[in-house]
Amino acid sequence: MMRAAVLVEPGRFEIQARPIPKPGRDEVLIKVAQAGVCGADLHIFNGHYAADSLPMIPGYEFTGTIAAVGPGVTGLPSGGKAVVDMNIGCGRCFWCRRNEILNCPDMRQMGITMDGAFAEYIAVPARLVIPAPDDIPFGVFSLTEPLACVVRAARKSDITFGQSVVVIGAGPVGNLHVQLLRASGAAPIIVTDLSDDRIAIALDCGTDIGVTDPAQLQQAVVDATGGRGADVVIESVGNPTLYREALRLMRKGGHLAAFGLTGPGETLALPILDTILQENSVKRSVAGMGQDMHDALTLLVHGRIRIAPFTRASYPLAEIQPAFETIADRPKDLKTQIVLAA
Ligand SMILES: NC(=O)c1ccc[n+]([C@@H]2O[C@H](COP(=O)([O-])OP(=O)(O)OC[C@H]3O[C@@H](n4cnc5c(N)ncnc54)[C@H](O)[C@@H]3O)[C@@H](O)[C@H]2O)c1
Ligand SMILES: [Zn+2]
Repeated sequence: MMRAAVLVEPGRFEIQARPIPKPGRDEVLIKVAQAGVCGADLHIFNGHYAADSLPMIPGYEFTGTIAAVGPGVTGLPSGGKAVVDMNIGCGRCFWCRRNEILNCPDMRQMGITMDGAFAEYIAVPARLVIPAPDDIPFGVFSLTEPLACVVRAARKSDITFGQSVVVIGAGPVGNLHVQLLRASGAAPIIVTDLSDDRIAIALDCGTDIGVTDPAQLQQAVVDATGGRGADVVIESVGNPTLYREALRLMRKGGHLAAFGLTGPGETLALPILDTILQENSVKRSVAGMGQDMHDALTLLVHGRIRIAPFTRASYPLAEIQPAFETIADRPKDLKTQIVLAA
């Protein structure tokens, strides 16, 4: 048997004894080492997302060791460290072949539509297991999934060196945007957040200019970009008002990277003629999968991302309930990790 944190109803985890899953054909059993808590996990906890899936074991930003492999699996040695791509597509359809797994008609997501990784073990499709080097701590690998989301966003919005970028929101993901922008040579990097603590972390992560007063943001961007506005503005909060603000902050011919998830019915009005005449664009991205996961892991393995700001809060599985309940009171803890094994 294994221990698993089951979200039995919104707001209430129960630590339950569950049978250790048996890896089926083409599956791998992962012994979970740690799993990060993401904003979507909090939405699920609060009953605002994936409520139909409960009771469920959430958790999808995870890493661990290969404990066993099912029939048909080769090349994944037992005992090796690994990260896992949480997005399960059919692997054959038009969208899966384009690495647009979330559009696959058969798409499932570990920890969202099915049991995830706040448990000692999880069985996963072998093709989604990415081996990771054994001499690097698990704490580094557990950032692979959120970093993969950021890698995908940067790829979709063609981020490159010398570009001025505004990041709206210095949450955990906003701070990963900042670090990837820094690694990509984007300059200057301007970050805005209402929280002094979050801006302090963003400055530590490589931001050039941090703005906490919304009234000063536009002028700060104008001053930092030769009066033009930013080449790229990344919305990483999920607030329709901030999407409108993003359009005001970008230069003619600039890109809005639509990343923060709003409520389902929200809309953004674009002046058609102006955006054509200026050649503005909106680049959307969702999640991180396939090549995004591989690239994120490569960046982490080669030390391109400072993980210290993301590793300040670790809780054992038994304390998952207080870990979730206190997240909003711990803004300095950019990330909360549930640790299951060393
Ligand atoms: N598209 C994707 O692939 C993808 C992947 C992961 C997360 N997301 C989304 O990205 C967003 C950011 O994720 P996160 O985990 O960092 O979220 P978070 O909620 O933890 O952080 C958001 C940050 O925005 C700040 N903020 C709130 N209101 C603000 C305002 N008016 N002006 C400036 N800053 C403000 C908060 O202080 C906080 O630091 C969320 O909407 C999340 O759902 C999208
Ligand atoms: Zn498919």
